[in-house]
Amino acid sequence: MVKQVSAPIISNTEILPHTYLVWAQAPEITSIAQPGQFVMVRCGESYDPLLRRPFSIHRVANGGQMALLFNIVGRGTEWLSQCQEGDSLDLLGPLGRGFSFQSASHRLLLVAGGIGIAPLVFLAEKALGEGRSITLLIGAQNASLLYPESLLPPSIKLITATEDGSEGKKGMVTELMADFAAQADQVFACGPTSMYQSIAAQHYLKGKSVQISLEVRMGCGLGACYGCTIKTKRGLRQVCQDGPVFELNDIFW
Ligand code: FES
Repeated sequence: MVKQVSAPIISNTEILPHTYLVWAQAPEITSIAQPGQFVMVRCGESYDPLLRRPFSIHRVANGGQMALLFNIVGRGTEWLSQCQEGDSLDLLGPLGRGFSFQSASHRLLLVAGGIGIAPLVFLAEKALGEGRSITLLIGAQNASLLYPESLLPPSIKLITATEDGSEGKKGMVTELMADFAAQADQVFACGPTSMYQSIAAQHYLKGKSVQISLEVRMGCGLGACYGCTIKTKRGLRQVCQDGPVFELNDIFW
């Protein structure tokens, strides 16, 4: 059931250059949200910008708090970065279909490219709560852009890669996968299209469930405008309603 709520902001912090973590009180949404789902946020005081912006639910806390993680990429996110404790966010959610665990999946491999970590922390926390184990591969351009390890649950096994080699293995995060995919029962990934194309080409993932979260432009987030329609191997799908999580194998690359 989708809710529209006015969520008081608890904190809004720049945790990396141009990357913000905002926590808001939204128990109506956190009580029913699933990892991989998203919210539409009105990013302005008025109707400018007109359209809400989609954000993955980054984390939820027991007290009804919800976190969103975002990069400043335009006017809407610039406005959001300026919001402070005591302001309120106009939210619509939870929306879309999130990640799902196969019942026999105990060892999960999570792969995050840059801001693609956004939906995976909520997923990791839920999985850990169900007794599953998590290996998380994170990649970024350089060490200063890597998501802080201190914000992750300590029981996660974390492996990092940076393109310039300033931390972890030098190279792309997908280059780490070969060492961990064989032991994983299920794989979850979030990042840019180029990362998904690279994962899709890995022969060692054949026959394994790989769920990815797609990021596309969304007009409504509610299945009304058809602006997010994509062609998949199962026919036309709306990312906002049928996704944003899809099986990697169902997408044309
Ligand atoms: Fe409008 Fe998906 S964003 S139908």
